[in-house]
Amino acid sequence: MAATDDWLQYWNGDVSLYVGPRHLEAHYEGLFRAVRPLLPPAPFTVLDYGCGEALMAPRFAAAGASVLLHDAAAARADVLRRRFRDHGAITVVDDLATVSATCDLALLISVLQYIPRADLPAILGRLRTCLKPGGRLVIGDILAPDNGVVADVAALLRFGWREGFLLAAIGGLARTLRSDYGRLRNSLGLTTWTLDDLAGVLDAAGFTAEPLGWNIGHAEHRRSLVATAR
Ligand SMILES: C[S@@+](CC[C@H](N)C(=O)[O-])C[C@H]1O[C@@H](n2cnc3c(N)ncnc32)[C@H](O)[C@@H]1O
Repeated sequence: MAATDDWLQYWNGDVSLYVGPRHLEAHYEGLFRAVRPLLPPAPFTVLDYGCGEALMAPRFAAAGASVLLHDAAAARADVLRRRFRDHGAITVVDDLATVSATCDLALLISVLQYIPRADLPAILGRLRTCLKPGGRLVIGDILAPDNGVVADVAALLRFGWREGFLLAAIGGLARTLRSDYGRLRNSLGLTTWTLDDLAGVLDAAGFTAEPLGWNIGHAEHRRSLVATAR
């Protein structure tokens, strides 16, 4: 079970999970390609919750979006504020209580695994409040209880091969296994969900969930879904 504070401390630091600049770039290119079919017609507002480096934010803006970025790791939010300070369509939001029924789309990609199960209903409730009725929440890169490290390693190597950073991926994997990420993953683990369990929690938070036919993320064994705010 993931423990929020320990994982957030990791995300606040020098993140070792990405094996190099090409990995990071290819990662966000892939995310944008996977999310693009789900974008509402322009103009629209998208909230990226747990946005990380948010390198796809300018592409959302180019597609007609006002982009709200939120990440609980304070150091990450500072970097984002500096990165996008001259970009009028991109705003970093610290307090989501200031966002009420203005978003058409919310993204929660590769975040669930770092959130203890008991904390999820409150986060979904907050996201529900941010969305307009009929707005959609896209949850990506969901780990199932039977997903393991071997499948993740194989997926990263395939991704590295396809995107031209295989050698960096091999070196990066060796570093990751010995890094704080590897240690935390071993000691805390990652939170996993079956899609049925997750659909139940989403239902209780006022969403109707449907599985997506593809994953938002390079790991094809992970799952994604779209939940519509009722
Ligand atoms: C694996 S990164 C994913 C980043 C981005 N969504 C992506 O798919 O590339 C996980 C991000 O979730 C953020 N995060 C973890 N727990 C969070 C929480 N409880 N609330 C908001 N952000 C959180 C971390 O700070 C980190 O930036």
